[in-house]
Amino acid sequence: MSNVLIAGTGPVAIQLACIFSKDKRHHIGMVGRANTSMKAHDFYQNYQQHNQLEVSVQNKEHQALTGQFTLHQLYADYNNLNQRLRSQQLYDTLILACQADAYRSVIERIATPILKQLEQIILISPTIGSHMMVQQQLNEINPDIEVISFSTYIGDTRVYDIEAPHQVVTTGIKHHVYIGSTKQDSPMLKTLQTLFDHVDVCLTIVATPLLAEARNSSLYVHPPLFMNEFSMRTILDGSDVPVYVYKLFPEGPITMRLIHEMRVLWQEINLILQHLKAPSLNLLAFMVKENYPVREETFNPYDIVHFESLPAIHQEYLLYVRYSSILIDPFSKPDAQGRYFDFSAVPFQQIYQDKQGVMQLPRMPYEDYYRTSIIQQIGKLLGIETPMMDRLLKRYSEHISKFIATNPELNFSKQFQLQNFEKDVNLIKDYFKNCFTLNIENKK
Ligand SMILES: NC(=O)c1ccc[n+]([C@@H]2O[C@H](COP(=O)([O-])OP(=O)(O)OC[C@H]3O[C@@H](n4cnc5c(N)ncnc54)[C@H](OP(=O)(O)O)[C@@H]3O)[C@@H](O)[C@H]2O)c1
Repeated sequence: MSNVLIAGTGPVAIQLACIFSKDKRHHIGMVGRANTSMKAHDFYQNYQQHNQLEVSVQNKEHQALTGQFTLHQLYADYNNLNQRLRSQQLYDTLILACQADAYRSVIERIATPILKQLEQIILISPTIGSHMMVQQQLNEINPDIEVISFSTYIGDTRVYDIEAPHQVVTTGIKHHVYIGSTKQDSPMLKTLQTLFDHVDVCLTIVATPLLAEARNSSLYVHPPLFMNEFSMRTILDGSDVPVYVYKLFPEGPITMRLIHEMRVLWQEINLILQHLKAPSLNLLAFMVKENYPVREETFNPYDIVHFESLPAIHQEYLLYVRYSSILIDPFSKPDAQGRYFDFSAVPFQQIYQDKQGVMQLPRMPYEDYYRTSIIQQIGKLLGIETPMMDRLLKRYSEHISKFIATNPELNFSKQFQLQNFEKDVNLIKDYFKNCFTLNIENKK
């Protein structure tokens, strides 16, 4: 890996460019869509003005992630990339630092000669099945390409002043990030591990991209947390008093029903994983050991280890206890009144109008809608019923449709269009067909 092209110009793209730029052997290009998107245009203008990108951190421990650096190339948009590259050196690595629902259209925009030269493509924030879609999309152009999936982006990075989108701050780092490749014993995974090790981010290698994609707890918990009456109303209509994503009802959405939906969704995803010959995920162990720890006193360790085989009602009880025990940060120092840090006071992001007056949906729940729709469709392709996914998606769709119908004067972005992401699903369908044919051929 030496010539790295990053697709996307948001905070994730900037932090990744910073990490890769620390190894001076890398030639780093970045491509946005400045000709069609105001956000990308602002970024492009700012970069032209300052000729530098900057990453800072909130926490001194994450100092290794900071940097001020210059890109080798910033392409205003994909046409620009395609034209300029005719006479220049090509890229061996493409990093998709955009939302998973944009992967297909980003690849479509890149000229075939560039795609043909790629050795690997890295998906930073995929859903279950994203690597299948990408591999299938490139099947004819570049059948040997290596597709690498991260379980999730390595931390939390944001722009802190929208007037200066070339400067971002990383406010937190994930303790566990998994990476998996379509190539066995991929040297590229080791290279990534070393690169991220230098900035104190630990990447764990797993056997396949599917395993990495499945080890993202937001796939299991976001749909129930955001696609319920309480959260959808708050996101679309606002609320009279502040309410919070991770609080118990009525301060937040968490009820016994939500916890029930979370457990059933988790089981549906596990069933799909089993059909794909991937190990299921112990949700409670994942939450407690990999997301946020709780105090030792909270759980019986036996229940954590054996969570998957406990009766449904016991599982729901344990999930409810888990959310209750992190309402406050159980490791914070209480004040004189015995109050601990209010860990669960995470506000909902609401819909908003962008600079052009177009209504936009926040990442949660829009990205969850895409991710869950893809997993639901994979279930259908495998002949697995997913009544909970169906219910959550239907509820989401009903709220969006009702909001559009009652606000006809507003100008809505494409995110408000309800769709079943047919083109993406068709690629996954073809991928399954190919795998099936290959299996039959191998067995002959
Ligand atoms: N930031 C974090 O801390 C964080 C944490 C966990 C996960 N993630 C995930 O990582 C991904 C990127 O995050 P981010 O914060 O950098 O998001 P962002 O600021 O929205 O940046 C996304 C980038 O993708 C581009 N893009 C979106 N749709 C596109 C399309 N159809 N064609 C071409 N380009 C497209 C955007 O272009 P425009 O600027 O023109 O819209 C932007 O450059 C998201 O999926 C996010 O959920 C981020």
